[in-house]
Amino acid sequence: MHFLVLGASAGGGLPQWNCGCRNCVDASNGVIPPSGQSSLAVSPDGERWSILNASPDIRQQMLDNLQLHPRALRDTPVASVLLTNGDIDHIAGLLSLREQTPFTLFATKDIQEVLSENRIFDAVNREKVDRQDIALGQDFTLQKGLQARLFAVPGKVPLFMEGDTVQTDLIGGQTVGVRLTTGDKVAYYIPGCAQVTEALLDQIADADQLFFDGTLWDDNEMIRTGTGIKTGQRMGHISVSGPEGSIAQLQGIRAAKTFIHINNTNPMLQPDGPERAFVENAGWTIACDGQEITI
Ligand code: MLT
Ligand code: MN
Ligand code: ZN
Repeated sequence: MHFLVLGASAGGGLPQWNCGCRNCVDASNGVIPPSGQSSLAVSPDGERWSILNASPDIRQQMLDNLQLHPRALRDTPVASVLLTNGDIDHIAGLLSLREQTPFTLFATKDIQEVLSENRIFDAVNREKVDRQDIALGQDFTLQKGLQARLFAVPGKVPLFMEGDTVQTDLIGGQTVGVRLTTGDKVAYYIPGCAQVTEALLDQIADADQLFFDGTLWDDNEMIRTGTGIKTGQRMGHISVSGPEGSIAQLQGIRAAKTFIHINNTNPMLQPDGPERAFVENAGWTIACDGQEITI
């Protein structure tokens, strides 16, 4: 199974258009590599690809990665697109894929409804792009030679659909992880998750490779850096650090572990910082754009 990181960043990307935080300034100045918004490509053979989340940066991400270039007039090696939630960083790229080339669009019914309730997505022609509702726990073929299964992880409704009160640890079809297998190897992709539960630990116990939510280093990061007013929990994202954080909670998982969906404020992006050293000493890697992983 082949993976290609199209965008390692969370919503906003690195640098973010309106941000002068240390990481964004360093990325603008070429001190650390810039990175696009959240997307991962997967392929059973290195030829045909499935895109896991369609980021607003997808056009550039496709240009930057030869594997995704057309090989004929009006062609794509992309067989399918799968969405793990309805956030803007995961769905807006669909609008760039509207040019009448067929692929299959997989998502839960809840996430498909986010698209059908927003009429701009009607530009993605349903006659060419087959929208398939996928039930939780049901095995389905993401493309020939690649099986997938969706499962609920604690999360919330998309930011732009939040009401006056927001449950941030909803378990349902609005925020999912995906299990991927080619038969021999098993990988999990979970770019948004509010909490590691017993059910999640049981689910991912057979992982060879795990891609996991690395949005924030700690729960107060947005507040501490002066970039926002919400905690990580309020945003529906577990922290990397701390006793309840992902490094501690996932330490028993035997898989190769990679952080993905990393917010531009996260101090682990600094190559020489103590946070990155901590992450790497804990056996995790931090995804970067263009990175290829084969298992
Ligand atoms: C998130 O991951 O929390 C969302 O992408 C936030 C957003 O929509 O900007
Ligand atoms: Mn996001
Ligand atoms: Zn920034």
